[in-house]
Amino acid sequence: MASQDLFNAAAEILAENDRGTYTVPTKGLYPFQWNWDSCLTALGQQKIDEARAWTEIETLFAHQWPDGMVPHIIFHQHDDGYFPGPTVWKTGRPTDTSGITQPPVAGLVLRLLMRRAKDLGTCTERLRTLLPKVVAWHDWFYRCRDPQGTGVIALLHPWESGRDNSIDWIDALMNVPDDGIDPYVRRDTQHVDASQRPTKAEYDRYLYLVQHFRSLGWDNEKLHDASPFQVVDPGFNAILIRSEEDLAHLADELGMAELAQRLHTRAEKARVALETLWSEEAGQYLCFDRKKGALVDSRSVGGLLPLLAKAGTPERQAQLAERIREWRSKGKFSVPSHDPADPRFESKRYWRGPCWLIVNYLLTLGLADCGQGEVAREVVDDSLAMIETGFAEYYDPISGEALGGGRFTWTAAMILEFLRSPPA
Ligand code: GLC
Repeated sequence: MASQDLFNAAAEILAENDRGTYTVPTKGLYPFQWNWDSCLTALGQQKIDEARAWTEIETLFAHQWPDGMVPHIIFHQHDDGYFPGPTVWKTGRPTDTSGITQPPVAGLVLRLLMRRAKDLGTCTERLRTLLPKVVAWHDWFYRCRDPQGTGVIALLHPWESGRDNSIDWIDALMNVPDDGIDPYVRRDTQHVDASQRPTKAEYDRYLYLVQHFRSLGWDNEKLHDASPFQVVDPGFNAILIRSEEDLAHLADELGMAELAQRLHTRAEKARVALETLWSEEAGQYLCFDRKKGALVDSRSVGGLLPLLAKAGTPERQAQLAERIREWRSKGKFSVPSHDPADPRFESKRYWRGPCWLIVNYLLTLGLADCGQGEVAREVVDDSLAMIETGFAEYYDPISGEALGGGRFTWTAAMILEFLRSPPA
C-alpha cells in the first residue's frame, strides 16, 4: 500500500475506535480503555490532532488510585462483551477499574510528545499537571512492588506484563491454586478462535489471583507479600527505567532539578539490579521468580526489551540484536514474542510466538539508541510488510497471517509512528 494510503487507513482506525476522551483497543473484544494501549495510541494521535493525544493520557490518569497505582482497565461504560468485568474486580472505585496495572510507557510517551510538540506552550502546561501523577505511579511501583528495595519490581499477575499468556509465567502460575474460583464464562473465545487465546488452566489461575487480591480489599500495602505469584520481568522493568529517565529529563526541563536527581538515582539503581537477570547461557535477560528465588528458563521477547533502557554493556546489547535476527531466521518476520527454537513456541497463540507491533516499536527505539540501526530498520520493514494482511492485534511470524482482533488501535498508531517518525 502506498505510504499516504496506509497513513489514511491507520488514521481511520484511530477515528473509528475513538470514544471522545479515550480510545478502545478494538470494537467487541476490548470495549474499554486499556492503560498502555492508550499511551502508545497517543503517539499516533499526535500526528493527527495533538490536543487529542494529551486528552487520551489525561483520561487514563484521571482514574489513578489514591495510592498512585494506574489501573490496567478503566470500565468507562457498561459492556457485557468482556470478561472479567467490574463485578468480578469489585475495586470500589468511583468509575469502575481493574485492580492491577500495566507496563508504564506513559513517561517515555510524554517525552516523545514534548519533543515533537507543535503548540509548546499548551503542551508544557499539560505536562506540568501530568508529570507529578506519573511520578506518583513510579513511586507506587518501587514502594509496593519492591518492598525489599532490590531495585527491580515484581508483577503480581501475568496480565500486568501486557504479555498475558507468555511462556514466562507458566511455571510461576503452577504455584497458584486453582480451587474455589467462582463459576465463570469466558468472552474472549467468543470473539477469537480459542487456539489463539490462553488455555483454561491458565485462565483459572488468572481468576484465582483476582479473587485473592479482592479478598484483601485491593490493599496494595499487603498484596505483594500475600501473592503466590511474584515475577520480575526484565521487559517491564526496562520500560520503567526508560520512562523514569524520560521523566527525569522532563522534570529538568520544567526546572524541577531535585525531582530530576531523585529519578536519575533510582533509575541507576534499577539499571544495576536489572543486570542480575542476564543469562550468559541464553544470551539474553530472563524473568526471575521471586517466590522460588530463581531465574525462569524461558526465552521471551521480554528479555530483549532491556535494549529500550540501553541496559548492559555494548556486547550484551549486540547479543540481544543478534537474538532478533536469529529468531527471525526461523520464520519470515520479526520479532516473534518467543524464541521459535523453544518447543513451547506456538506461532499463532497470543504471546507464545506471534509478533506484536507495539513490541516491535519499543524494540526499534532501543535498537536505534544502542547503535543497532540496521536491525531496527529490518524490524520496521517487517512491521510494514505484516500490515499488508490487515491492522491486526498480532501476527504469525512464520506466515505473516493477521491474528486476534482486527482493526486494532495501537497497531494503527504504531504504523503512523513507523511511517512518520521511524526510530532508525
Ligand atoms: C491483551 C494484551 C494486552 C493489551 C490488551 C488490550 O490483554 O495482552 O497487552 O493491553 O489486550 O489491547
